[in-house]
Amino acid sequence: MSIELFDDALNGLEVRAEYDDGSGEVLDVSRWMGAVDAADLHLLSLIDGPALDVGCGPGRIAAALSARGIEAVGLDIAPGAVRIARDRGAQVLHGSVFGPLPRVGAWQHVLLVDGNVGIGGDPERLLRRTRELIAPDGSVHVEVGGGGARHGLVRARLRSADGAVGSWFRWAHVSMAGVEPLAATAGLSVENVWEVDDRCFVELCR
Ligand SMILES: C[S@@+](CC[C@H](N)C(=O)[O-])C[C@H]1O[C@@H](n2cnc3c(N)ncnc32)[C@H](O)[C@@H]1O
Repeated sequence: MSIELFDDALNGLEVRAEYDDGSGEVLDVSRWMGAVDAADLHLLSLIDGPALDVGCGPGRIAAALSARGIEAVGLDIAPGAVRIARDRGAQVLHGSVFGPLPRVGAWQHVLLVDGNVGIGGDPERLLRRTRELIAPDGSVHVEVGGGGARHGLVRARLRSADGAVGSWFRWAHVSMAGVEPLAATAGLSVENVWEVDDRCFVELCR
């Protein structure tokens, strides 16, 4: 991922994700920087133990969990995101989900929110990694695309409003319809499905 441009977005510059099929979208930074919304609040209500928020960005979920007295740690590779998340009161690790991490096999919950199941462009690998991270009775909460959402692997790059363009990186879109077979290949099964305000989530268990 083009980390510098992601940090530009967090600093208020409009940044678009462009996909290699010609489509694209403006990064929804205002949601990431804003307060938790109704869908986030429902997610928070399901978290009762140590949680790792993978790709936490500026940390709204990890900070909200901590404020509720639930042990939560954000994880992100973008230094600007880590800085903002810490300023918001979240405990945050700077690094990659594929790198060395504490408590492997002991997290009660791992979160992949806001399309973060796309990280690395290989959702099977990412879900296998999250399966390694959770405790035997833990779960992985994944936000997926709702009805008609795209599903598949893409290459993406970021373009900021000042004309800077990052390099291509691998990303993935995962839809509600497509998540079950992906989870199964990673040794996970869908235990719970829910939707609030057009945002769709699944809870995966071993
Ligand atoms: C779609 S944004 C997530 C926004 C975030 N969930 C929020 O609420 O603000 C994707 C995030 O994943 C992070 N990321 C990308 N690759 C990563 C990796 N390998 N490990 C951890 N974080 C990663 C990016 O830096 C970025 O903050």
